[in-house]
Amino acid sequence: MSNNTNTYIADLRNKTGQEATLAGWLYNSRASGKIQFLIIRDGTGLCQCIAEKGKVSEKLFEELKRLGQESSLTVTGVVRADERSAGGFELAVTDAQIISPAVDYPITPKSHGIDFLLKNRHLHLRSQRQWCIGKIRHTIVDAIRRFFNDNGFTLIDTPIFTGIVGEEAGSLFEVDYFGEPAHLTQTGQLHLECAAMSFGKVYCFGPTFRAEKSKTRRHLTEFWMVEPEVAFIDLDGLLELAENFVTFIVGRVLENNLAELKTLGADITSLEKIAPPFYRLTYTEAAEILKSKKTQDFMAAQLNELKGQKKQLEDKIAALETEAKGPVKQWRQDKIAAELIDLRSELEETETKIENSPKHAKLAAEFTWGEDLGGSDETIISLMHDKPVFVTCYPKEAKAFYMKTDRSNDKVVLNFDMLAPAGFGEIIGGSVREDDYEMLLERIKKQGLNVENYNWYLDLRKYGSVPHGGFGLGVERTVAWITGEKHIRQCIAFPRMMDKVYI
Ligand code: 4AD
Ligand code: MG
Repeated sequence: MSNNTNTYIADLRNKTGQEATLAGWLYNSRASGKIQFLIIRDGTGLCQCIAEKGKVSEKLFEELKRLGQESSLTVTGVVRADERSAGGFELAVTDAQIISPAVDYPITPKSHGIDFLLKNRHLHLRSQRQWCIGKIRHTIVDAIRRFFNDNGFTLIDTPIFTGIVGEEAGSLFEVDYFGEPAHLTQTGQLHLECAAMSFGKVYCFGPTFRAEKSKTRRHLTEFWMVEPEVAFIDLDGLLELAENFVTFIVGRVLENNLAELKTLGADITSLEKIAPPFYRLTYTEAAEILKSKKTQDFMAAQLNELKGQKKQLEDKIAALETEAKGPVKQWRQDKIAAELIDLRSELEETETKIENSPKHAKLAAEFTWGEDLGGSDETIISLMHDKPVFVTCYPKEAKAFYMKTDRSNDKVVLNFDMLAPAGFGEIIGGSVREDDYEMLLERIKKQGLNVENYNWYLDLRKYGSVPHGGFGLGVERTVAWITGEKHIRQCIAFPRMMDKVYI
């Protein structure tokens, strides 16, 4: 069982024409008379292995035929290049050894509802989709560290237990800290600002907690956020840093994970367009766009398109249902069943979008200056653009206390959100920080926060205050956007959401 004698599926290209042994799990299989197609996965990829009667022992042929999905085994055979097969190679089986047979694996290729899959996340992680997402997430996390490490940033690990409110008091997870109240961090930013005054350019990267009482596809209660913070930077500098950063991440994924993106059906052409400069809108301009006739027309066209998609989906479903009633082989029946589940859930989503579209159009039309952009407003702006959009300078009252007041217009702050294209919405939030002692003190008081807790934060404005700023990028939302996954719960191995902690 030593790995020295086994070959990883990802390395099969070096073994064409030679014998190789794979060690993995049976992902799927089908038999047709004298030939069996076994799809093996080993963590590095999938490989079709072909066992022919007469080329392996009669006993093994029968054993393989009965072998259940997710049984573990080693398979030996000759490597053949085959463009049609997943991964580009297949194995002509000469021998196999079953390590541990699995019986009645609960997740069949027939597909299941999301609740069932979340309860079975410990097993569902083995699925092709989850595997592709996990590999891309890995590249994104690696790119995040690489970008900052290669650009002169120092990593600072900020605490998870904290005593101060970084964002909204309404979304704190309280903990009993030896009899004293404390909570789980919502952001490392405030601590990071201290470090920026020592190291200049810093970043923190870790889990972040928000008791968000929203069950949307964009919210988790525990998510990963990377936050850079830079001394001596202005808003333009931050936007440049953010667009170079996101361009780098997308570039790394395109370099390393093209096969995974294809399997997931991600929009690769759109990803290839990601390059600076991104679009820049002020909040005031975004508000004008939302209220404009252009947006109403856009929404009407969007609604028509959705109705067209609905019709197409219904037709496809009807055709498959008819086919399934006819005389079709078991493997085809299974495939149809799986496709139907996916199509029906896509239909359901399309119907929800059709139902929401007029409501969202109305919200946009009635948008008034001073409100924060809502999820649907962000979606609309982001749908109207083919590259990420920066929305800058939001009304002060709608935003966090630490954001710097624009000295040329004291109704707004020097902040930005980056909205990913194609309706994904906000992936980054950031700002220049208020660096004036008195103005910051006033904001802290105005928001009803306990000044005593913020003395150390205020000190930064007392001892060599400098213009500085930073931002936070949500990892799961970035993974969702890049992979084209609709729900961020699929973008972390073990998601934590408001209603349930499954596993
Ligand atoms: O916009 P947010 O709240 O900004 C901050 O926390 C700042 N302190 C960051 C900074 O300036 N250093 O959050 C930043 C990003 C969002 O754009 C989003 O991508 C992600 O964190 N995020 C969430 N992701 C998943 N679930 C949630 N509940 C999230 N809340 C924020
Ligand atoms: Mg935000």
